[in-house]
Amino acid sequence: MSTTFQLDTATSRANPTPAPVKRLTIPAIRRRKKNGTTDQPIVMLTAYTARQAQLLDEHCDLLLVGDSLGQVIYGLPSSVPVTLDMMIAHGAAVVRGSWHAAVLVDLPFGTYEGSPAQAFETSARILKETGCAGVKLEGGEAMAETVRFLTQRGIPVMGHVGLTPQAVNQLGGYGARGRDAAEAEKIIADAKALDEAGAFSIVVEGVVEPIAIAMTEAVNCPVIGIGGSARCDGQVLVVDDMLGMFERVPRFVKRYADVASVISQAAADYAAEVKDRSFPGIEQTYQPK
Ligand code: KIV
Repeated sequence: MSTTFQLDTATSRANPTPAPVKRLTIPAIRRRKKNGTTDQPIVMLTAYTARQAQLLDEHCDLLLVGDSLGQVIYGLPSSVPVTLDMMIAHGAAVVRGSWHAAVLVDLPFGTYEGSPAQAFETSARILKETGCAGVKLEGGEAMAETVRFLTQRGIPVMGHVGLTPQAVNQLGGYGARGRDAAEAEKIIADAKALDEAGAFSIVVEGVVEPIAIAMTEAVNCPVIGIGGSARCDGQVLVVDDMLGMFERVPRFVKRYADVASVISQAAADYAAEVKDRSFPGIEQTYQPK
């Protein structure tokens, strides 16, 4: 069992934590949407490490420890093999590295779909061992009973509909969803079912824009888009995608930096200095006789 420790900012590499600020709460985020509109759009990014969390925290309302860490951190082919222990280790790191944003942790595939009781056991472990504020799970109408079960027992839940990456084997890939009328209606019905079951917010991923707009208008809780529409109540991106860490990203991702090139260039400069022995040494005060 892991434990949530506080960062010792005096001895670790961590930047000092700023003067204590009150962390955003899930009810405060839920209240952003009033009478169908959100005056202050919700800013959400994924985060997987303590240092990432420190850098992103002040800019975000929500930090999601997404199971996309399977591909992003561990080089796995999909999120299907991600384990609960992985999510807990990274969840605790992100909570340690943040002080303002509310932190959510994804329930990994195979740890919640069996029954509401299984979902409760998994979620309770995540909340206890990471200190996060809530969980996210994939699926629509089929998960509504579970969402109701968790929320009635004190666990805030964010839903996730449209392209649901944990179902990649069923969907056959990561293409946009809702291209025919029947699927579009089903996605909106999924969102309504989660909303009625008590989800405090819903992610809609990889759908054609009219669906994202219709969904945002159809449900009471805030809808967060990723490849949805600018008219959603908020947006989320995988942080490594928007930082430009990968050559290939989904079509809807805007890159805000080219961090991959910066890292590559720094490694090349370092390697060159090691090889030609121009690597700087510590200034010597001790002179051997
Ligand atoms: O796992 C993840 O990063 C996600 C986001 C894409 C919403 O679920």
